[in-house]
Amino acid sequence: MSSANSEALARVRATLERYGQTHLLAHWDHLNDPAREALLADIAQINFTALAELIDTYVRGNKSFPLPQDIQPAPFYPVQPGLERVGKYADAVKRGVSLIRRNKVAAFTVAGGQGTRLGFDGPKGAFPISPVRNKPLFQLFVEFILGTNRRYGSDLSWFIMTSPQNDAATRKFFEDNGYFGLKRERVRFFQQGVMPAFAPDGTILMEDRHRIAFSPDGHGGSLLALRRSGALAEMAAAGIEYISYIQVDNPLVKVIDPLFLGLHEMTGSQMSSKTIPKADDLERVGNFVVGDGRLQVIEYSDLPDELAHARDPRGGRLFDAGSIAIHVLSRSFVEQLTADEAHFALPWHRAVKKVPHLDAQGRWIEPTAPNAVKLEAFIFDAIPYASNPLILQTSRAEEFSPVKNATGVDSEHTARRDMNRRAAAWLHAAGFDVPRRPDGEPEGLFEISPTLALDGGHLREVIIEAPVIKAGQSHYWE
Ligand code: UTP
Repeated sequence: MSSANSEALARVRATLERYGQTHLLAHWDHLNDPAREALLADIAQINFTALAELIDTYVRGNKSFPLPQDIQPAPFYPVQPGLERVGKYADAVKRGVSLIRRNKVAAFTVAGGQGTRLGFDGPKGAFPISPVRNKPLFQLFVEFILGTNRRYGSDLSWFIMTSPQNDAATRKFFEDNGYFGLKRERVRFFQQGVMPAFAPDGTILMEDRHRIAFSPDGHGGSLLALRRSGALAEMAAAGIEYISYIQVDNPLVKVIDPLFLGLHEMTGSQMSSKTIPKADDLERVGNFVVGDGRLQVIEYSDLPDELAHARDPRGGRLFDAGSIAIHVLSRSFVEQLTADEAHFALPWHRAVKKVPHLDAQGRWIEPTAPNAVKLEAFIFDAIPYASNPLILQTSRAEEFSPVKNATGVDSEHTARRDMNRRAAAWLHAAGFDVPRRPDGEPEGLFEISPTLALDGGHLREVIIEAPVIKAGQSHYWE
C-alpha cells in the first residue's frame, strides 16, 4: 500500500473509532487491493456525523412516530362528483388533457425497492402479471404511455428510479425487450440513495468481508435522487411541470390521469394524492388525516386502534381514506424542497427486518427472525410541506391491486384476478355479454391492452365491432 493510501486508511480508521464502527475493517488484512478499494468506497458513502444522530434516535432509541395532538379525517374529492362538482371535474379533465398534449407532465416510477416479500428473482417491474399475455409490470406501464400518446398526440417521457441493487438488471430488462416499443430516449433511469442496515446496538452490518450491507433508502429517497441525478434539471429543460408518481407494483394504476392532473393544476396543489375507501379498519395502508391542521399520512401501524375503529354519525368508517401511493408532484415543489440538498431530509421510519450478514469473526449469519434495523424515508411525508395538497378518491376495482406478497392478500393471484375482473367490467359496460361463473367471476380470461383503451369509457369509444366472447377461453384486445 502506498503511503497516501495508508494515510487515507489511518483517517478512515480514526473516524470509525470515533463512531464505534471499527468492525468494518475487521477483515482488512485478508482483502486484496480491489476489495480494499471497494470497502473504502462503501465507507466513503457514509456521512458518519449525520448517521450518529440517526442511530441514537431510531436504531438504539426506537423513536416512535410523533402523533399529532388533534387528528381529524381528511377531506377529499369524491370518486363520483356531486352536482356541484360535475363542471369542475369536466374542466379538470380538459386541463389535464391539455397538459398531456403539451408534454407538460412526465411519468415517474419508483422501482428501487427490493421486493423481498414477493421473492421474485429480478426487478419487480419484470414480474409477469397480465392475465392472458403475462406481460410484465414495466410493459403495462409502457403501453399505458403509448396509449396516452396515441390518444392525445403527446410524446411523454418516463423517469424510472432504480437502486444500486437493481439498476443494471432493470436497464438490461429494457434493453433485452427493446423498451417494449417506447422510444429509448424517452426513458431516463437514475439511482436512489442507500442506507446501511444496523444491528440493534447501532453497529453497521456487512454483507461481505469488503461490502457494507446497504439497502435503498425508501421511496421518499426519490426526491433527493431526482435532484442529485440531474433529472429535475432535465425536466425543467424539457418544459415538464408535473410529475406523475406511481409505484412499480400496481398493474391497475393509471400511469397518467387527466382528471387527477387537471385538479392538481387548477387548485394550485403542490402535491396531490389518490385515495380509496379502506377494505377494513386495519387494512395495511397509510391513512390520510388532518393532523394538527395539516394534511398528512399516518401509517396503519401508527394509527391508534380507537381511531382505526371509530365510526361517523352515519355508521361509516371515520378514517376511511387509504393511501395508495399515487401522486402528482409539481416539479417546482420538488425543486423547492430539495434546494438545500445537504440539509433536506424527510423523517426516517424504522423497520426491523431479516438481514443476512457477515459478522466480525467472518461467520455468515442467516437470520431466522428479524435481526436488523433498516431506515427508510416515505414519499407521503412530503405532503405536509405542500401548499394546497389535495386528495382525489378513486375506486379500488379500477386502480389498485398491488403485487406485494408471494401468496394471499396483495399477491400475484389477486392482481391477476383484479385485472381480469376490470377488463370484464369494461366489456360489460361497453354493452357486451361477459359469461360469468355461478360465483360471479368472469368465465374466461380477459385482457385489454392499454394501447387500445386506457379506461372503460375509452373502450366504449374505440371498440366498434362486437367482440366474439367464448365462455372459458382467453381473450385479448390491442
Ligand atoms: P414497498 O414498500 O412495497 O417495498 O415499495 P419493496 O422494497 O418493493 O418490497 P418489500 O417491502 O421488500 O417486500 C413500494 C414501492 O416503492 C419502491 C418500490 O420499488 C415500490 O415501487 N421503493 C421502495 C423504492 O423505489 N425504493 C425503496 O427504497 C423502497
